Amino acid sequence: MKKVNIGVLGYGNIGSAVAALINRNGKTIAEKSGIELKVVKIADPKTSRKHPLLTKKSEEVINDPSIEVVVEAIGGTKPALQYILQALKNGKHVVTSNKEVVALHADQILKTASENNVSVFFEAAVGGGIPILQPLRESLYANNIYQVYGIVNGTTNYILSSMTNDKMSFSEALLRAKEKGYAEANPKNDVEGYDAAYKAVILTLMAFGVLVDFSEVYFEGITKITKEDISYAGEIGYVIKLLAVAKQKDGEVEVHVHPVMVSKDHPLASVGGPMNAIYVVGDAVGELMFYGQGAGGDPTASAIINDIIAAAHGTPSQRRAHSKMRVKDISKTKSRYYVRMTVPDKPGVLAQISKVFGEEGVSIQTVLQKESHGKSAPLVIIFHEVVEENFNRALSKIKKLAVVEKVDNVIRVGL
Ligand code: HSE
Repeated sequence: MKKVNIGVLGYGNIGSAVAALINRNGKTIAEKSGIELKVVKIADPKTSRKHPLLTKKSEEVINDPSIEVVVEAIGGTKPALQYILQALKNGKHVVTSNKEVVALHADQILKTASENNVSVFFEAAVGGGIPILQPLRESLYANNIYQVYGIVNGTTNYILSSMTNDKMSFSEALLRAKEKGYAEANPKNDVEGYDAAYKAVILTLMAFGVLVDFSEVYFEGITKITKEDISYAGEIGYVIKLLAVAKQKDGEVEVHVHPVMVSKDHPLASVGGPMNAIYVVGDAVGELMFYGQGAGGDPTASAIINDIIAAAHGTPSQRRAHSKMRVKDISKTKSRYYVRMTVPDKPGVLAQISKVFGEEGVSIQTVLQKESHGKSAPLVIIFHEVVEENFNRALSKIKKLAVVEKVDNVIRVGL
């Protein structure tokens, strides 16, 4: 039986789970894959965890001639990028769960792998344990894929689910997410959308063969979503989800991350708690949805071990970008919108507001006028699909109307 020696960089939650899972399920893995995996060295300069194979020096992994596959589980770009590139140059396959380094440096990493006749895989970087990149790469050749919508951040999905199911505010839900270990002490990367935006870059590469620059990805997080928005969404049959959206149409791609009101009938609406799901539409296969745990030691290690086997079987890497489609600016994309505003509760207000939207060619679909709080009342309007820059032009005129006290929130409606 073929034996493969593995070196692990980073002995945190993920690195330690990889070593433990190989230890626990090594026999099953060997029976199924025909490959016996052996972790021979683990490097981590900082960990307080103990392991007999642990060294503080990453070079001992990267330069060890007996190691065929290096698992990078450090995270971030420094020093992870340098280690990945050096391992590839040393003729080792690399498996990483690091979405940031892949999203920001995929071209350099894939080029270095190809120049050195080795492979690099990053299944665990999107959707944790969910097999999504391999299916996009290998199982859907027959399809033109036009749309990918992903709930790819467990932290924000847990927070939004808590706000929906338990009527919590954003800060209450964030606190609970921290207590349960779903949110980090500094939750910025997750709640402000960076993590999902990195994953959107990777999904776009895998689905369409287009490598977009991270700076071209429009992203928003969930910090502005309130209990009120969640409740109004529920009244009109929607739940709010943070979605990574990747679409291709007419020779252009759209890549963006933001909250979306998803119809309760859509399969993504039922993805609750910290779970992840990626919904893909192919022209031959139709709709697919991949669902599972998007984070955590064991699920992530499950994806990493599959990649190790793929590398050991000689599977070639993801190709570098093979298409040069332009990224459509967010201002040119189309969406439906929800707007919540505060207005005085007196005659003629709605007429003035709808007149401005009408003049700007922005069409109203539904209006919810709620009970007033004193002299002011919340007004919720849902709009038909409109180009974003046209909608924004109308909205800036609305904000200047004397009868509009405040535009409280704007959320895209879709799916
Ligand atoms: N912080 C990420 C999440 C972890 O919440 O989904 C997995 O990338």
